[in-house]
Amino acid sequence: MNLESVLFSQGFGSRRQCRALIADGRVSVGGATLADPDADVDTNALTFEVDGTAWPYHERAYILLNKPAGYECSRDPQHHLSVFNLLPAQFAARGVQCVGRLDQDTTGLLLLSDDGQFVHAYTSPKRKVPKVYLATTRHPLDDAQLAALREGVLLHGEAKPIAAVAAHARGEHALELTVLEGKYHQVKRMVAAAGNRVEALHRERVGGLALPETLAEGTWQWLDEADLGALRNG
Ligand code: URA
Repeated sequence: MNLESVLFSQGFGSRRQCRALIADGRVSVGGATLADPDADVDTNALTFEVDGTAWPYHERAYILLNKPAGYECSRDPQHHLSVFNLLPAQFAARGVQCVGRLDQDTTGLLLLSDDGQFVHAYTSPKRKVPKVYLATTRHPLDDAQLAALREGVLLHGEAKPIAAVAAHARGEHALELTVLEGKYHQVKRMVAAAGNRVEALHRERVGGLALPETLAEGTWQWLDEADLGALRNG
């Protein structure tokens, strides 16, 4: 692939902007400046640098963000900052979108990708991907609430009750809840329907992929093949 196409595919601007970046000597490959936009480069395991910052080539972007509270899962946020403020601009430029949405006050594991099929697969209700949340509740948890969550609660606007795959108390006010759907405010509404209230919500896991403990809040990482496999096999 020529160098201009490499930069263009990775979200470094329009083709004209990519050509200019290269022609201005701001792009290097393997430690050497490459000023020819038409130079052929092998994209296999390629890392190039723009203005000294390394960027690994990824045909498709699959990333994981440890979302802090106060960010909306939208490129056009209404009342808060966007999660895209936490990511390099190249991601939005190449069409990366959130794989499902977390509320602005929810923290934890958020997937993003520019692979439309992947986004669709992991947001489709048919796929039934388990999502594990830790909810801090206002009132103490009790057996009746946990049983209601496991057996199913009827949410406003839904034809049938929705049951959690698992509901455990990890502490008096700490609820671990696993759900298969991704409905609007689902966990908050389920907990409310069971007679309690969510004060804070954190997503720990999607499929078999857990939020890495080493990933600081507000930071992101690329997903590798092992991560994508874990996600599929969860
Ligand atoms: N359920 C909610 O209520 N909010 C989220 O952000 C995710 C699941």
